[in-house]
Parts: sequence; C-alpha cells; structure tokens
Amino acid sequence: MQSKFALATAATLLSAGMAYADAHAASGDPAAGEAAFRACAACHNVVNDAGDVLVGRPNIRTGPNLYGVAGRLAGSVEDFRYSPGLQALNEAEVVWVEENFATYIQDPTGYIREAAGDDGLRGSMAAQRMRGDTDAVDLYAYLASLAAE
Ligand code: HEC
Repeated sequence: MQSKFALATAATLLSAGMAYADAHAASGDPAAGEAAFRACAACHNVVNDAGDVLVGRPNIRTGPNLYGVAGRLAGSVEDFRYSPGLQALNEAEVVWVEENFATYIQDPTGYIREAAGDDGLRGSMAAQRMRGDTDAVDLYAYLASLAAE
C-alpha cells in the first residue's frame, strides 16, 4: 500500500501543473453546486483576493476560505489553523482537483490517511453527506466558476 501511495503522490506532483487547466474543465453543474453549497456555508465562505465576499457570511472562520480551491494546494490558506492531517497533505503538495475533492469531502480522514500514507492522521472536517459523487462534482464546478470570474 505504501508504494501505491508514493506513486499516487508522484502522479499528483506530475499533474500539479495541469491542475489549473483541470479546474477550468470541471465536469459538474455549477448551478446545482450553488444549491449544494448551503451545506458548506455553516463553516465556509468564498472571499476573493480583493476581500469581496462572493458567497456566505463574512465572518465565518470555522473552515478555510474556499476561494480558488479548485486547483489550489491543500491546506494553504494563510492564517487558517489546519489539522495535522491537512498539514500533511500540504507537505505532500496535494493539489485539489475534482477527483480528490469529491473523495475528501465525503470522507476527510479516510482521504487524508490514504493520500499521506499515515493511518494515525485525522482531519478536523466532518464527512459531508452527498448524493454519491454528483453533489461533490457539482460543488467543485461551482467553486471553480467563482474563481474564474
Ligand atoms: C462543520 C463545519 C464544516 C462544514 C459543514 C464543511 N466544512 Fe469543509 N472544512 C471544515 C474545516 C474545519 C476544514 C479544515 C480541515 C482540517 O484542517 O483538517 C475544512 C476544510 C475543507 C477543505 C480543504 C480546504 C483547503 O484549504 O485545503 C475543503 C475542500 C472543504 N472543506 C470543502 C467543504 C465543502 C465542499 C463542504 C460542503 C459540502 C464543507 N467543506 C463543509 C469545516 C467544515
């Protein structure tokens, strides 16, 4: 298993340069993702680099700002106190693309353990209930569209 994870990490690194392109080739439905984001807004908002709140309430800090999360390095919002699990993803240079985003939000700790190759890690976000991968893929497309504007 360890070597499989090492390969997966290498593949992630190789494809990191393509993540930006992937982010803009999201296959989901942004309009459906906008509706699904209500489940996330209790903990996350989307605030652009100019400080404009695009989605959600201004003072939500439970979870990190999700602006530009499509194609973004995991665990990279400055000033946000990530769990050791998300810090491990950051150190492994994991970049959020549609597939790992969908896996992560449905099982954060499971994804962190697999991607970092360490069963002792856990994430601080609870698993989110999704209708299979559909909601997650739509959410990804929605978040990608907000950052593309
Ligand atoms: C109850 C609060 C809560 C809810 C609801 C929630 N999250 Fe999170 N989310 C968090 C926290 C806390 C973290 C940081 C996790 C860590 O450090 O392990 C996080 C991290 C993330 C990350 C990683 C971001 C990064 O900077 O690497 C993504 C992506 C994410 N959440 C997406 C979502 C989506 C999409 C939803 C809705 C389906 C959602 N979250 C719902 C609390 C929440």
